[in-house]
Amino acid sequence: MTTPEQMEKIVSLCKRRGFIFQSSEIYGGLNSCWDYGPLGVELKRNVKDAWWRSVVYERDDIYGLDASILMHPKVWEASGHIEGFSDPLVDCKKCKHRFRQDHLDNTEICPDCGGELTEARQFNLMFKTFMGPVEDSASTVYMRPETAQGIFVNFQNVVKSSRAKVPFGIAQIGKAFRNEITPGNFTFRTREFEQMEIEFFVKPGDDEEWLHYWKNERFNWYSQYGIKQENLKLRKHDDDELAHYAKECYDVEYLFPFGWSELEGIASRTDFDLTQHQTFSKKNLTYFDEAAKERYIPYVIEPSAGADRSTLAFLVDAYDEEPERVVLRFHPKIAPIKAAIFPLMRKDGQPEKAREIEEMLRPHFKVMYDEAGNIGRRYRRQDEIGTPFCITVDHDTFQDDSVTLRDRDSMEQVRLPISGILDTLQGRLEKSSD
Ligand code: GAP
Repeated sequence: MTTPEQMEKIVSLCKRRGFIFQSSEIYGGLNSCWDYGPLGVELKRNVKDAWWRSVVYERDDIYGLDASILMHPKVWEASGHIEGFSDPLVDCKKCKHRFRQDHLDNTEICPDCGGELTEARQFNLMFKTFMGPVEDSASTVYMRPETAQGIFVNFQNVVKSSRAKVPFGIAQIGKAFRNEITPGNFTFRTREFEQMEIEFFVKPGDDEEWLHYWKNERFNWYSQYGIKQENLKLRKHDDDELAHYAKECYDVEYLFPFGWSELEGIASRTDFDLTQHQTFSKKNLTYFDEAAKERYIPYVIEPSAGADRSTLAFLVDAYDEEPERVVLRFHPKIAPIKAAIFPLMRKDGQPEKAREIEEMLRPHFKVMYDEAGNIGRRYRRQDEIGTPFCITVDHDTFQDDSVTLRDRDSMEQVRLPISGILDTLQGRLEKSSD
């Protein structure tokens, strides 16, 4: 497990090397908002691409969607978010600190100063804004607190346009917003974040089987992309922690330095959402099952993951300290840069040759060129950002058209003909995801 001291080093590495910056930093920052820098944006894109590839491209029963963030306000009445999407908030009468009551062991005494806590009041987590020039209750709209509702309201559109047959799913990646009472732990709990959600529609009665299928499928995805087994677990929700729409739910949890915490929830949502939207919109949201000659409202299994939380877990899990170096052992598909190309010396045509190789690889992978400092330091710089392969042009390159290929994890170096670099890297990247 990564220690809290190592976590501090990860946060500082993120800033120093351009993974994650505090939002609006030059103005003192904005609490719980973060910006992804040049390496962070690649890392997070790779996480989202790996998810999209596994749930949309590698299957024939899931369709993609990109719904808008602002939706008709009735959506949130139907979904239950206006009524029930709130956390119990308590204030300390002495130091004025705020807490979520359900996060406290003792609900009467302030954990910070021992002062008396107020009675709990319900605090709705949705951000409100106004649509159009008039700021009144008729123009209130909400920043979506989950991407899921964009999927439910498009259920019939996807069925009709894609001739989708139950069982099938709709997948979406997008921003969600929650006015969290106690954000924190770096990018783990923020007020603006990205979700990767699937709503998988099944025949009523088949929901149990599909819930078990999806909890295993999603659990395995994290280890397939390199997260250590011992840092992952599946946890079943107790009845008293189930969301208002859920019949049964499992969380994929990761052992962060601050304890086991949720990366993804896999919930059995029954026909709750489609039924609610049918009632509120007065539109028919039933499905006609040709095979069974039956009409019904499908049940839903929802694997709902956080893109930022997964990215943080991939970062934390990849972090490793050795006596001589810090290394991010990212899975090659997740690594922001796939290969770095160096000239051993800044002379004798070596930089030009290295640039040629960089240009040859650039259309295929995210690569970078570096000629600054001695070769050992250049390797260390790449280790620290998790680049799986380094390619070095040296004096011998001009004799035999070969380069050195260095592996990040084993630090092993082999000679390779220039003509074989692309195939070798492609092969190593593909093999890594077997
Ligand atoms: N549609 C179901 C839903 O939204 P959730 O458990 O509230 O369920 C799903 O959220 C995932 O979204 C979580 O497992 C987490 O990864 C991510 N998430 C939720 N709140 C978050 C926050 N404040 N900051 C970062 N990620 C968050």
